[in-house]
Amino acid sequence: MPAKVICGFLDAEVNRLVDVDPEREVAYSLVALGHVAALPQQFLSKPSVLHLETVPLSRNEIVYPAMREIHAASSLRSAEEVGTWRGNAPFAKLPAQTGATVQLHPYSDAEMPRDPIEQVILRRGSARKFAEVPIGLLQLSTILDRATRGIPADFLHPEGTQLNEVYLIVNAVEGLDAGAYVFHRDRQMLERLKAGNFRTQAGHLGLDQDLPAEAAADIFFLADLQIILGRFGNRGYRAVQLEAGILSGKVYLAAYAQRLSATGLTFYDDDVIRFFSPHAHGKSVIMLVAVGKNAKSVL
Ligand SMILES: Cc1cc2nc3c(=O)[nH]c(=O)nc-3n(C[C@H](O)[C@H](O)[C@H](O)COP(=O)(O)O)c2cc1C
Repeated sequence: MPAKVICGFLDAEVNRLVDVDPEREVAYSLVALGHVAALPQQFLSKPSVLHLETVPLSRNEIVYPAMREIHAASSLRSAEEVGTWRGNAPFAKLPAQTGATVQLHPYSDAEMPRDPIEQVILRRGSARKFAEVPIGLLQLSTILDRATRGIPADFLHPEGTQLNEVYLIVNAVEGLDAGAYVFHRDRQMLERLKAGNFRTQAGHLGLDQDLPAEAAADIFFLADLQIILGRFGNRGYRAVQLEAGILSGKVYLAAYAQRLSATGLTFYDDDVIRFFSPHAHGKSVIMLVAVGKNAKSVL
């Protein structure tokens, strides 16, 4: 069944339909499932409010006024605005390649682990400690390849467009020098930005924690917000965050399918950009996922 992420909708109308108090909860994105040749008659009239009871998210609510402000400032208010949202995504090119390159060789479909998705989901659970042991280049290649094959979304036209770019700190991957890299998705290769052991820096960049220092590789999602906000307005920030979330979810699945582990991490925004500059100049960090072997599994 086709499924497509939809972020172009009239916020107030959808909030009214699902019947949430938009001061507390909001519709952030929709997923359209299946397709019909023509819209059935009953959908041409306005659907009625759902009237479903909701449970408070928390006993103690904290109001973050800036969050409400940016949500209001990124809401769509007219069919015209929705129409503009649905056009092509902005096209940002990576700087021309100058560093040494490493070709990636992901598993073919026939070589992929055969565990069903349900098993992989049960196995998944964020690593709380990584073993400082290497993973294979084949494994990292497969994670990068399978996680970045495109997401069906109304803000990612033409299909296969990606707003986030992938940068990595490689600590321990067999067949790959330790260092900082950028992933060229179109050519399935890594470009080395600098060589060296960056475990200490990785630990610092990932909010002074052990997880990113001990991981085999740290995968950073970076985006050029100027270009994205220029095309999509404030709502572009929702799109870039959502895309990074989905990409990270796929990194998790690709890791756990191969019996590796992953964890989403927080980071020092400006320090990460400084670390990957000049290549990353002008970009912003959106998300970080560390991957490696779980310390639990090598005991
Ligand atoms: C955006 C984001 C940032 C996170 N940052 C950290 C972090 O800095 N340190 C940490 O230990 N866990 C962090 N986590 C939490 C773990 O990655 C993980 O989600 C959490 O431990 C829940 O475990 P589970 O995936 O097994 O349910 C973060 C999660 C997300 C989604």
